[in-house]
Amino acid sequence: MENNQKIVLVVGVSAILLVSIILMPYFLGLNSINDPEEYQLESIEYVRITVLVDNNPNGSLQSPWGLSMLVETENLTILFDSGPNPAALEENAEALGVDLSTCDLIVVSHEHLDHVDGLTHMTEIHDDLSLYTPYYGTSPMYWMDGFNVIEVEDTTEISSGIAIIGESWERALVINVKNFGLVILVGCSHPRVENMVSTAIDELNVNETYIVIGGFHLASSTYSRVLSTVESLFELGVQNIYPIHCSGDAIRSYLESDYPPNFGNASVGFQITIDGT
Ligand SMILES: [Fe+2]
Repeated sequence: MENNQKIVLVVGVSAILLVSIILMPYFLGLNSINDPEEYQLESIEYVRITVLVDNNPNGSLQSPWGLSMLVETENLTILFDSGPNPAALEENAEALGVDLSTCDLIVVSHEHLDHVDGLTHMTEIHDDLSLYTPYYGTSPMYWMDGFNVIEVEDTTEISSGIAIIGESWERALVINVKNFGLVILVGCSHPRVENMVSTAIDELNVNETYIVIGGFHLASSTYSRVLSTVESLFELGVQNIYPIHCSGDAIRSYLESDYPPNFGNASVGFQITIDGT
């Protein structure tokens, strides 16, 4: 091959690689939000949330330390975290009449074992399911085996009306429901739940927050920290607060006694439907 031909070949291949890298997010169906000023998350018709695993007990359902919730909308069924072991996820889903084989994708809040060690159950019933995780940028972790892993670095819309927000090394799943507003699912809220809610409101440009549900990481916090967290959530306009998993009893008791209309008393097996139609 002549030198000129080699140069043309190298330039051509490089150009194809560059274009592929630039277009990769679109092939993956991701819509990274490049201009937050112009962006607003669309709304969807309804969402139903089922708490599949939580350490707040309820009847004969398994309640190991951990968290997993199922999110069903008119378009997608999403598993948010998986709890600490596959048996709890499988047996609770069965007891609740939930068919996890219909799941379209998984969103992982963060890599702690009480959120990811139930994932092997999903590889038993699915091939190559998409698994959205925070951006780790290193070699794959054992719990990613068997999944199509998509690392999410910034706030990203994964489907119309559904987004993953990025806050430090933990992610939250956010759904905008017509006539209600944001429904925010948090795993453990290591970056603080008020910061995650604030990020969702700012980056998705939706002012109403109907529900925040999940772990608030307040189980070993001071009482003043618990009170200031509730105050911050109200200042951000959160209407209904559902503290489960690592939120601790203090925030649950405080909301129940002082703000009963805003307290969501959830545990494993809890289900809520928010229907904006
Ligand atoms: Fe946790």
